Amino acid sequence: MYVKRLAVIGAGTMGADIAYVAANAGIPVVLKDVQQEVLDRAQRHIYDLFENRVKRGRITGEQAEARRQHIQYTTENGLLSDVSLAIEAVSENLDLKKSVFRELDQVLPPLSLIASNTSALPISALASVTGRPDRVAGFHFFFPAHMMKLIEIVQGEETSRETVETLRRLAEELRKIPVLVKDSPGFIVNRVLMAAMAEVLRFQEETGVSYADIDQAVARAKIAPMGPFVLADALGLDVTLEVAETLAAHYGERFGPANQLQQLVKQGHLGIKSGHGFYAY
Ligand SMILES: NC(=O)c1ccc[n+]([C@@H]2O[C@H](COP(=O)([O-])OP(=O)(O)OC[C@H]3O[C@@H](n4cnc5c(N)ncnc54)[C@H](O)[C@@H]3O)[C@@H](O)[C@H]2O)c1
Repeated sequence: MYVKRLAVIGAGTMGADIAYVAANAGIPVVLKDVQQEVLDRAQRHIYDLFENRVKRGRITGEQAEARRQHIQYTTENGLLSDVSLAIEAVSENLDLKKSVFRELDQVLPPLSLIASNTSALPISALASVTGRPDRVAGFHFFFPAHMMKLIEIVQGEETSRETVETLRRLAEELRKIPVLVKDSPGFIVNRVLMAAMAEVLRFQEETGVSYADIDQAVARAKIAPMGPFVLADALGLDVTLEVAETLAAHYGERFGPANQLQQLVKQGHLGIKSGHGFYAY
């Protein structure tokens, strides 16, 4: 199957970027959110991303405008009736994602695929609420999706080979690098990343070494391109906490979310998006 037109459900941090990546590759996109103000913010963000490409001499103003026109913004389901793939990018909550999957199963054409951008939740659990579990898979972009090359394609218990192949071709068309993984909480990257994150947070609590010093050390030693506290603030501390909780529920206490992460989220300090996280912005 060939993805001629796709939908992205959820226009937050990830959804907006994913819509941009698809439009930039010439694929028509429907970007849906339940909040009009989120769609407006996404549209401004996408405008800026295309402007940046124009400024850097990568595309002309006309090309940017033509690619922007590939995206339709909506709060309704009407435009979803002829998409061949929907990529779900709503908040990291299993019940919410299940309700979105049930709804998509009703409104999409029967042969269309449904993929989730979940960071850690089980794909098979999402597939099980649809009448098309063979056409459901994970399609996991990394933050920021317009820069990060990797996509984890997650194969659920019933995901068909054809679904995987369609997603692999799409990833290549988006100029990304797909890696196929089995359905297990955290897949590859978040399982490794969150194990390190749990350890670094324990270390910080035990020793009181500053966030900035730890970030410096990790980045300068080239363990990762940026330090863990800068990264968590960029990803969103709420998303980081939800992923930690999913992994702790499955793998046990070694993934248990640190107190300071829980406290910050409770106080509404979610990182860059709220103006305060481990650092103030
Ligand atoms: N933030 C990251 O760095 C990152 C990286 C990789 C994957 N992810 C995953 O991507 C997904 C989205 O994360 P995010 O950071 O973009 O979240 P976000 O909170 O920025 O955006 C989620 C959006 O979903 C919308 N939404 C909620 N219910 C909806 C519904 N029923 N229909 C349509 N839209 C709805 C919300 O209005 C919100 O705008 C999560 O599963 C997350 O784990 C996040």
